[in-house]
Amino acid sequence: MDACGRILASCQLLRKATRPNLALFTHVCSSNGVQAALARYSTHPMTEEVTHQRPKVTLNTIRSLYRQNIPIASLTAHDFPSAIVADRAGVDLTLVGDSLAMVALGYENTNQITVDEMLSHCRAVARGSKAPFLVADLPFGTYEVSAEQALESSIRFIREGNMEGVKLEGGIEMADTIKKITTAGIPVMGHIGLTPQRSVSLGGFRVQGKTTIGAKKLLQSAQALQDAGCFAIVVEAVPPPVAKFITQALTIPTVGIGAGSVCSGQVLVQLDMLGSFDRFSPKFVKKYANGFETNSAAVKQYVHEVKHGLFPTEEHTYPMRNEDDIKKLEGLDIAGAKVSSSGM
Ligand code: KIV
Repeated sequence: MDACGRILASCQLLRKATRPNLALFTHVCSSNGVQAALARYSTHPMTEEVTHQRPKVTLNTIRSLYRQNIPIASLTAHDFPSAIVADRAGVDLTLVGDSLAMVALGYENTNQITVDEMLSHCRAVARGSKAPFLVADLPFGTYEVSAEQALESSIRFIREGNMEGVKLEGGIEMADTIKKITTAGIPVMGHIGLTPQRSVSLGGFRVQGKTTIGAKKLLQSAQALQDAGCFAIVVEAVPPPVAKFITQALTIPTVGIGAGSVCSGQVLVQLDMLGSFDRFSPKFVKKYANGFETNSAAVKQYVHEVKHGLFPTEEHTYPMRNEDDIKKLEGLDIAGAKVSSSGM
């Protein structure tokens, strides 16, 4: 095997290595003047697959990103295509959030969705995800009754939904439940601040921790969740100074949504940030695309083209095997064709 071949083989091995290692390897190769090998690697037939195939994100990866102060990019996915988009874009943690109840299934709030409905979406997301760490929301009513109920629900998400961890909403009162699930070996992500499943008792979708007392309560909850074994905590809709106060006090990552840039990572609902959900948009959502308008315009154009015979054109059709057959077909008496086809 020549030098280039060895480098190619190493590159393929490194597909299984961590991203920092891959970056280091690339740097070493370049500085050793072996760009030719890397160029060959990048035009190798495997390139397409290689560039899309990142090392699997594990809990260790998340801990390592946290230790290195590298923000954790999290995003929801609710189906196969959105899971692929998240995976290929480099998302570290894909969340099958119960936000899917509202943005994908059209429910009034998140409390309507059942475990069975969630599981079907989880399996689709798992089929579309290779690298991201996969977490699913425990839906409302499936973990509050007892720690045993919460563990049973969590097991279903791992076993039937092909998820790697679960997320649940609530503060200090959920600590024993979280301990039960994490002791069984299931990674748990906490969720404090604005907890949509409890929005009625919170008086609506309201910013949390706006006072010193509120901020201290959130910190107590965060610490209890950390002690119970959470690997990370979503902090939703709290002022950035409060998110900072919590983030600095913890030794596990905070993943913010509407909590400013001080958290250890960020999460958004994919359909929100793509501008595909047109009913409402929380202040904390940045729209990176105008999905609803783009899709509506495309579908309108399709309807127009169908109605006016403009679609399909030849490029979207299949040819006959022989030109002669077209002529024969055109000269064929339809009544005769019926007789002969029924005789076949
Ligand atoms: O349900 C969800 O998508 C969530 C995220 C917004 C954190 O909980």
